Amino acid sequence: MEVAKRLEKFQKSRETINNLKDGIINLGRGFPNFDGPEFIKEAAIQAIRDGKNQYARGSGVPELNIAIADRFRKDTGLPIDPDNEVTVTNGCLEAFAATVLGLINPGDEVILFSPLYDSYEGNLAMAGAKIVSIPLQAPNFAIPIQKLKSIVSRSTRAIVINTPHNPTGKMFSLGELNAIASLCIENDVLVFADEVYHKLAFDVEHISIASLPGMFERTVTMNSLAKTFSLTGWKIGWAIAPSHLTWGLRQAHSFITFSNATPLQCAAAVALRAPESYYVELKRDYRAKRAILVEGLKAVGFKVFPPDGTFFVLADHTPFGLENDVAFCEYLLKEVGVLAIPCSVFCLNPEEGKNLVRFVFCKDDETLRVAVERMKEKLRK
Ligand SMILES: Cc1ncc(COP(=O)(O)O)c(C=O)c1O
Repeated sequence: MEVAKRLEKFQKSRETINNLKDGIINLGRGFPNFDGPEFIKEAAIQAIRDGKNQYARGSGVPELNIAIADRFRKDTGLPIDPDNEVTVTNGCLEAFAATVLGLINPGDEVILFSPLYDSYEGNLAMAGAKIVSIPLQAPNFAIPIQKLKSIVSRSTRAIVINTPHNPTGKMFSLGELNAIASLCIENDVLVFADEVYHKLAFDVEHISIASLPGMFERTVTMNSLAKTFSLTGWKIGWAIAPSHLTWGLRQAHSFITFSNATPLQCAAAVALRAPESYYVELKRDYRAKRAILVEGLKAVGFKVFPPDGTFFVLADHTPFGLENDVAFCEYLLKEVGVLAIPCSVFCLNPEEGKNLVRFVFCKDDETLRVAVERMKEKLRK
C-alpha cells in the first residue's frame, strides 16, 4: 500500500502526457516523432513471415544475445559470454526492475544521484530498498565525490549510475567513474549502470563503468534498442552482467515477463549489426537538433544547461517569473501550447528541481523550430 502511494505521483504525470490536446507540441516525453530505420522494420516483418512467432528462450533469442555481446565487445573491449552474461528484457526498464528485484533484499541501502529517471525510485520501492540520494547541482551536475565517500560504506549494496544522464544530459567523466569504482571495490558494492543513451554522446566519449579494472564482476550494464534506433515502442532491452549476478536478475526476469517478443528480438539482432556509419549519422542528426533547441531556448530567454549527451535539455525558467517548475509547465502547456516536464518530478526532494524544466529534442527539426517560435511569441519575461 505504501509503495502504491509512492508510485501514484508517476501515474498522474503520465496520464497528463498521454492525454494531450491536439495542437500541443510535445517536448515532454522522451520518444521520437520520427520512425525507426526501414532495414530493422523489414527484418521484423520477415521474422514474422518466417514463423518466428512462438515464445522465445527466456534469456533471449540466441542470435540476439550474440549480437549484444559482439556490440558490447566493440564498444568496451570486454569479451562476454552471450548465453550466461546477457539477458534480453522488456526494454531497459525491465532490465532495471529485474536487476533490483533479483539482487536487492528489503532494507538494502542503494545510492541514487538526483535528479534521476523516475522509474528507479518505483522499482527500488517495490524491492523494499533503503534509498539514499545525492543531489547533483547545476551548472555542471558534477558528482560530489567527498559526499559520496562519506556515504558509501559496507552497508551499501549498490550505486545506480546513468550515463549519459536523464534529465541533465551530463556524462560521467573518467575521474568520476574511477572514484565510484574504487569506492565500490573497497566496500564491496554493486553498480547498476543504465547506458540507454550511450550512442547519444556528443562532445565527450562514453565510458562504460564495467570496462574499468575490477568492475565487470560487480556491474550490471543495461541498455536497449529504444533510443539508439528510434524504436521506443518495441521494448527490447538487455542486461549484461557476470554469471553470478545474471543468475539473480534472471530469477526475477523469469517471473516478470519470462520472455519478450520473438520477431522483434530477431530484428534487434539485425539492428545491432548496423554499420558504424549508422551511429555517425545518428549523432550528426541529434547534434543538429540539440543546436536548434539549445540556441532557440537561449533566444527565448531561458538560462540553458547544454547537454553533453542524451536528447534532453534542462533550462532555468525563473526569468519568466512563475512560482515554480510545475506552475511554469502548466503555463507553458495552457498559454503557449508546448509540453515540458517539471524537473522536480525527477528529484527525490522536489525543492531541488523547482527552478528547472526539461525539454526533449528527439523531434523533427521543423517541430523544434515551431516550438521555439511559439515560446518566443507567447512567453513574456
Ligand atoms: C534513463 C532511462 N532509462 C531507461 C529508459 C527506458 O528504456 P526502455 O524504453 O528501453 O525501457 C528511459 C526512457 O526514457 C530512460 O530515460
